[in-house]
Amino acid sequence: MDALKIYGGKKLSGKVKISGAKNSALPIIASTILAKNRVKIENMPNVVDIKTLLKLLGRLGANYELSGNSLEVDSSKVNSTVANYDIVKTMRASILVLGPLLTRFGHCEVSLPGGCAIGARPVDLHLKALQKMGAEITIDEGYIKASTPKDGLQGADIHFEKKSVTGTENIVMAAALAHGETNISNCALEPEVVQICEILRDAGVEIEGIGTEQIRVVGTGGKLLQFQDIKVIPDRIEAGTYLCAGAITKSTVKVSDVEPKHIQATINKLEEMNFKLEIGKDFVRIAPPEDGKIGSVDIVTAEFPKFPTDMQAQFVALTTQACSESIIEERLFENRFMHVSELQRLGAGIEIEKNQVKVSGSSELIGADVMATDLRASSALVLAGLVAKGETTIHRIYHLDRGYESLEEKLRNLGAKVERVKVDIL
Ligand code: EPZ
Repeated sequence: MDALKIYGGKKLSGKVKISGAKNSALPIIASTILAKNRVKIENMPNVVDIKTLLKLLGRLGANYELSGNSLEVDSSKVNSTVANYDIVKTMRASILVLGPLLTRFGHCEVSLPGGCAIGARPVDLHLKALQKMGAEITIDEGYIKASTPKDGLQGADIHFEKKSVTGTENIVMAAALAHGETNISNCALEPEVVQICEILRDAGVEIEGIGTEQIRVVGTGGKLLQFQDIKVIPDRIEAGTYLCAGAITKSTVKVSDVEPKHIQATINKLEEMNFKLEIGKDFVRIAPPEDGKIGSVDIVTAEFPKFPTDMQAQFVALTTQACSESIIEERLFENRFMHVSELQRLGAGIEIEKNQVKVSGSSELIGADVMATDLRASSALVLAGLVAKGETTIHRIYHLDRGYESLEEKLRNLGAKVERVKVDIL
């Protein structure tokens, strides 16, 4: 089993190139099920979740070629519509094949993704929406078994009771090949949702309201789509994570190949903490507070464009170094504080009260062995390790490998002392 050893206290400097967004690449890969041609995708992040979804697509009969950050997928010969538990259990975003398979083939069986470390992660909103489009759905032996009337999914008016990123993506993809018009309200506004809508529009689907809460899709009635070449948008959470690495070490760090408007909420909070931010066309540079004092901040996570839940753990780590108390509230997931107990092992003063944490600030962190529990929690432990005195060993870093490309290499290029080591299974 791999672990990451970080020797804290090093100043960072220089530039880090941000990779393509995992959470955009995943729906894009699933959407190739709707394509009649071989699809070319650039700026693909080289992370485990991508490989997992490609493995699933391969099982369905698609063929693909991944070389570095370039991917070509041909799903025209998909000949199975069963997404097995063994793959789906390792990555709940596999649910993204449900809409495309059902709208193209009229039937599919997708294992229920089940929960994960951060919460129950239900998919009821996805299923209710598909039922409104005419799908017959049963849950049997842990599988979602879905089928449509003989003439496939029908356009419908759909309202999401809660904004759901993959829920919106699944339904837009399902509506793309449905018969007739689908009007979806209370859509998620994340940049990843915008990109998949743009890709389908460029593939010939009539879509209006892209980037708004109200999206109208006129389906092709079962005709497959001719995809254009695609470039994955930058990963806004990776960008925010590296800005926090510069922040927590009071260093000057530039993140390049980013879309600043996708990380505005994160930038706003860093500025509130007295960091100096320079915003370029495709880069953001962070520098320490002029007086060296990191200010405290209060945060409530919410849907885009508000402060992202995927940056919550990183800011819990960062605010341990603020001069006074910060309060961070998690509103999207019921169990997304798994990083807190590990940060406390490093000496952080944090109290959990229901869905809020109070971070006392001015914590002197001392290196120790800690354990990663989920993707973003593990990035919080990396940040803490960068500033903790001595050596921090982060175990179970397979969580990190799911969503951060070449993490130790990128950190070493910034001047961090970090290495990947083999340890006995913990
Ligand atoms: C996406 O997950 C992201 N994953 C998550 O990123 C991210 O944390 C989340 O959106 C919120 O921004 C991908 O895009 C692959 P939701 P998703 O459906 O779509 C509830 C990471 O670290 N809900 O927007 O699964 C749900 O429980 C990952 O990269 C239902 O109740 O999230 C949550 O409270 C972690 N029923 C809220 O809605 C449903 O059917 C938002 O979830 C669906 C969701």
